[in-house]
Amino acid sequence: MAFSILLVTLTLLAIVSLAVAAGNNSTASAPILLNCGATDQNQNNDDSGRTWAGDTASKFAPSVKGVAETASYQDSSLPSIVPFFTARIFTSNYTYSFPVSPGRMFLRLYFYPVSYGNYAVSDAYFSVTTRDLVLLTEFNASQTAQAITSAYLVREFSVNVSTGILDLTFAPSTHHNGSYAFVNGIEIMPTPDIFTAPDTRFINGDNPAPFSFSPDTGVQTMYRLNVGGNAISRKEDSGFYRSWDNDSPYIFGGSGVTFSRDGNLTIEYTAKVPTYTAPVGVYGTARSMGPNAQINLNYNLTWILPVDAGFSYLLRFHFCEIQYPITKVNQRSFLIYINNQTAQQQMDVIVWSGGIGRTTFTDYVILTTGSGQVDMWVALHPDLSSKPEYFDAILNGLEVFKLQQNYGTNNLAGLNPPLPQKPDVNPSQASGGGKSKGALIGGVVGGFAVLLIACFGAYVICRRKKKIQKDSGKSEDGRWTPLPDYSRSRSTASGHTATTSTLPSNLCRHFSFFEVQTATNNFDQAFLLGKGGFGNVYLGEIDSGTKVAIKRCNPMSEQGVHEFQTEIEMLSKLRHRHLVSLIGYCEDRSEMILVYDYMAHGTLREHLYNTKNPPLSWKQRLEICIGAARGLYYLHTGVKETIIHRDVKTTNILLDHKWVAKVSDFGLSKTGPNVDNTHVSTVVKGSFGYLDPEYFRRQQLSEKSDVYSFGVVLFEVLCARPALSPSLPKEQVSLADWALRCQKKGILGQIIDPCLQGKIAPQCFIKFAETAEKCVADHSIDRPSMGDVLWNLEFALQLQESDVDSSSGFTEGTLSSGASPLVMTRLQSDEPSTGTTTTTTTTMSITGQSIASVESDELTPSTIFSQLMHPDGR
Ligand SMILES: *[C@@H]1O[C@H](CO)[C@@H](O)[C@H](O)[C@H]1NC(C)=O
Ligand SMILES: *[C@@H]1O[C@H](CO)[C@@H](O)[C@H](O)[C@H]1NC(C)=O
Ligand SMILES: *[C@@H]1O[C@H](CO)[C@@H](O)[C@H](O)[C@H]1NC(C)=O
Ligand SMILES: *[C@@H]1O[C@H](CO)[C@@H](O)[C@H](O)[C@H]1NC(C)=O
Ligand SMILES: *[C@@H]1O[C@H](CO)[C@@H](O)[C@H](O)[C@H]1NC(C)=O
Ligand SMILES: *[C@@H]1O[C@H](CO)[C@@H](O)[C@H](O)[C@H]1NC(C)=O
Ligand SMILES: *[C@@H]1O[C@H](CO)[C@@H](O)[C@H](O)[C@H]1NC(C)=O
Ligand SMILES: *[C@@H]1O[C@H](CO)[C@@H](O)[C@H](O)[C@H]1NC(C)=O
Ligand SMILES: *[C@@H]1O[C@H](CO)[C@@H](O)[C@H](O)[C@H]1NC(C)=O
Repeated sequence: MAFSILLVTLTLLAIVSLAVAAGNNSTASAPILLNCGATDQNQNNDDSGRTWAGDTASKFAPSVKGVAETASYQDSSLPSIVPFFTARIFTSNYTYSFPVSPGRMFLRLYFYPVSYGNYAVSDAYFSVTTRDLVLLTEFNASQTAQAITSAYLVREFSVNVSTGILDLTFAPSTHHNGSYAFVNGIEIMPTPDIFTAPDTRFINGDNPAPFSFSPDTGVQTMYRLNVGGNAISRKEDSGFYRSWDNDSPYIFGGSGVTFSRDGNLTIEYTAKVPTYTAPVGVYGTARSMGPNAQINLNYNLTWILPVDAGFSYLLRFHFCEIQYPITKVNQRSFLIYINNQTAQQQMDVIVWSGGIGRTTFTDYVILTTGSGQVDMWVALHPDLSSKPEYFDAILNGLEVFKLQQNYGTNNLAGLNPPLPQKPDVNPSQASGGGKSKGALIGGVVGGFAVLLIACFGAYVICRRKKKIQKDSGKSEDGRWTPLPDYSRSRSTASGHTATTSTLPSNLCRHFSFFEVQTATNNFDQAFLLGKGGFGNVYLGEIDSGTKVAIKRCNPMSEQGVHEFQTEIEMLSKLRHRHLVSLIGYCEDRSEMILVYDYMAHGTLREHLYNTKNPPLSWKQRLEICIGAARGLYYLHTGVKETIIHRDVKTTNILLDHKWVAKVSDFGLSKTGPNVDNTHVSTVVKGSFGYLDPEYFRRQQLSEKSDVYSFGVVLFEVLCARPALSPSLPKEQVSLADWALRCQKKGILGQIIDPCLQGKIAPQCFIKFAETAEKCVADHSIDRPSMGDVLWNLEFALQLQESDVDSSSGFTEGTLSSGASPLVMTRLQSDEPSTGTTTTTTTTMSITGQSIASVESDELTPSTIFSQLMHPDGR
C-alpha cells in the first residue's frame, strides 16, 4: 500500500515536473543575457524589454580578457541597440564559462560587424567552439552580413550540456595575420528537449526510415518561417524568444493563397504539441495552393532554402487546419517532397491533429550532398491516391535545423556564404540564380533584416547597362516613353489580340507571346539576367532596338493571376516621370510576363564612387536629387494612400539616357501579405546606413523614414562616399553621423567630393547642406516633408545657376528652371515649411506639372488601393 502511494506520488511528481517543463518555466535554470563589452552601468534593455548583464566584471566572465569596444554610433543620434553596440574583442583565445543546469539550451551569438577602435572589420576572422563542438570556423562576420544584406547577425544554436558548465571559446584564425575575434552578445535560453519526436523520418530515396534524434546532437537554426503570415518578433514568441520570418521570399513559382484562421476558431495545443512548439501566430496563418483544383494539379507549392552542403537537416513542418469546411479526415490530403524525394504521402492534417484548430507537426531528416551552398527544395502537391474532397495542400510553419557532423571533430560550421554577384558581370555568363541565393542564405537566422523580395530591379538594370554600352551608339534609341502612345498603338503593335485580357487596356501595352519570344530570342539563357521568386528576368529588345527588362513569372495559381493583375494595375497607374515604369505585359497562353523600362545610365551610385565613370557635375547632381525627390514626393502624396518606399538609397535611384533620375523598387517589394500595414511592421527593412533611427527604435514607419534615407542620399551625393564605410575611423563610419557632425562644426566643406571643390556656389551649398541636415534629424517631426525637401533643392539649384551662369538657365529634362519662380512661390505657399504632410490631391493640381508629371493625369488612386486595402485578397 505504502509502496503504491509512493509510486503514485512519484508518477504525479513526474507529471508535475513534465508540466512545468512544458509551461513557461521551461527548465530550472534561468536564461543568461550577456552584453559583451558593456558594464552593468550601461543601459542594457533590449527591444523585447529584457535586461542584459554587462560582461565587464560579470559573474560569468570574472576576468574577461580582450578589449571592450563600442561601435561608432556611441554618441550619435542612433540609440544603443542592445546588445549590438558594444563588443568584446579577442586577439588571443578566450573562453567564457557559463554555469548552467544540465540539459538542452539555445545559444545565440550576436554579431555587429563594423570596425571597432583600431580593429578593422576585415580582420575579424575567427572560430567559436564549445568543449566538444565547433560552432563557427574561419568565420567572416562582415562577409556573412554582406551576403544576406543585413547589418547584423544572430547565429542560433541548440546544444545539450551534460556537465553543468558551458564553455565557449573564441579563437582568432591562425590563417590570417592580425585576425581577431569579437562578439556583441551571448544569450543562453534553456529549453526542454524540443527535438526528439516519435515519428521523425529519415528521407532516403522514396523509402523513408525511422530516425532517432540523439539527445547530444548540436543543432543550428537555419530557417524559422511563419508560412503565410507576418514575421513574429522575439517578444511575441511562445517561449524561448525565437524570431519567425515570413516565408514569401523563399517561394518559388506559384505562391498559392495565404489565409488566417476563421474568427470563431481557437488554436488548441496538446500534450504532444505544447504551447512553446510555436506561437498562435504561426498556427493561425497558413498558405495553401488555392481554390482551383485544375491549377493545383499542375504545380507544386515550392520553397527553395539555401543551406550548407554536407550536413543533415531536420525539417519541422507545422500544421493546423484553420478554416471551415475542412474538419474531417480525407478532405485535404497531400504529398510532401523534400529535395524532390517523397517525404510524406497522404499528409492529412486532421488525421495528425485530431480536428480543426488543433496543432501538429511532422519532422523529417535529410542529408545534403555537394559542396558550398546548395538549395533545399521543399514542395507540396495534392495526393489523389486517397481521393480527397479537395485537391489542395496546406502549411502553417516550417523550421529547418542543421545537425552536427560527427566525423573527425564534431562540427556545425559551414563556409562563409558567397557575396552577391557584382553587377558588372557579363550577362551572358551570369548564372542567374546566384544573386538571389546569395542574398537569401541564412536570412532567417539574422531575423532582423528582411531581404528585398524583388532584388532584380536595380540589379538587372545596371547589368543591362553594361551590355548596352558595348553596342555603343544604340543607347540613344534606348529611350522608352511608356506613355499613352502605347495604348493607342496597342492593337497594331501586338499582332495577337488581347480579347481574353481582363486588364484595363488603357494602362499599358499588351505584348503578344510571339513578340516576347522574339525579344528574348525565345528566352535564350544568354539573355537571362537573374532569377527571383517570381521567375526569370531576361534582357529583351523590342521595336527593333529598344532594350527592356522582361520578367517571366512562373505558372501560378488563380491567386497568382490576381497578384499579377494587381501588380500591373498598380505599377501602371503609379506612372511618373521620376519612377521606373512598367511598359507592358503579356498574358497570352497563360503566360504572365512583365516588361519594364530601360535605364541607360544605371544607378546613381555607380556615378559617385568606386567607379570608372567620370564624375557628375554639381548641377547634374542637383538635378538628379530633384528628380528623385519628385518621385518620392509623388509616392508620398500623389496618390490617395501614402506609399512609403522603405528602401531609398543611391542604388535605387536609376538614371536614363538623358540623366533623368527615376526611383525604382517601389512596387515590387510590396508583394508581401501585408502591404497596407507598413506602419506596424515589426521587421526592420532597409539598408543600414540609410535607416531612420526612429524606425529602428519604435519600428514605426512613416514617410519621414524615406526623408531620413533621402537625407543620407544627399550627403552621399555631396561627399561621394558610401553611407557606411566600416573601414574608416569609427566616428566616420556612418556618413549621416559624420556629415552631421561636420555640418554642426561648420566644416562640412572639407569632406565634400574633391571633384566638387570650388564648383558649388556658396549660397547653394548652404541651402543644400541645411536641407540634408534637416532630413537626417533624429526625430521624424523635426524632418521636413518631401515637398519641402523638393522645394529647397529647387531653390538650391536656382542659387547655383544664378551664381554660376545666369544665361544658361533652362535645361531640358528639368522643370525647375525657366518659369519656376512662379511654381516655387505657389509651392511654398501651399507647402508651409512646418512640414505637416497634407493629402495631396490639392497640392497636385496646384503645382501641376512641376510635381505631378503629365503621366499621372489619369490616376484614379482609389481603385488602385482598394485592392491593397484587403490583405486577405492577396
Ligand atoms: C506562465 O505561468 C503562469 C502561472 O504558472 C501563468 O499565469 C502565465 O499565463 C504563464 N505565461 C505564459 C506565457 O504561458
Ligand atoms: C518560475 O520561475 C520563477 C523565477 O525563475 C520562480 O520564482 C517561480 O517559482 C517558477 N515557477 C514555477 C511554477 O516553477
Ligand atoms: C572578410 O570579408 C570581407 C568582405 O568580403 C573581406 O573584405 C575581408 O577581407 C574578409 N576578411 C578575411 C580575413 O578574409
Ligand atoms: C586557440 O584555439 C584554436 C582553436 O580552438 C587552436 O587551434 C589554437 O591552438 C589555440 N591557440 C592557443 C595559443 O592556444
Ligand atoms: C604573416 O606575416 C608573416 C611575416 O610577418 C609572413 O611570413 C606570413 O606569411 C604571413 N602569413 C599570412 C597567412 O599572411
Ligand atoms: C542531454 O543529454 C543527455 C545524455 O548525454 C540525455 O540524457 C538528456 O536527456 C539530454 N537532454 C535533453 C534535454 O535532450
Ligand atoms: C464557426 O463559424 C463557421 C462558419 O464560419 C461555422 O460553420 C462553425 O459552426 C462555427 N463554429 C462554432 C464553434 O461556432
Ligand atoms: C528538384 O527538381 C528540380 C527540377 O524539377 C531541379 O531544378 C532541382 O535542382 C531539384 N532539386 C534537388 C535538390 O535535386
Ligand atoms: C512536384 O515535385 C515532384 C518532386 O520533385 C515532381 O516529381 C513532380 O513532377 C512535381 N510536380 C509538378 C506538377 O511540378
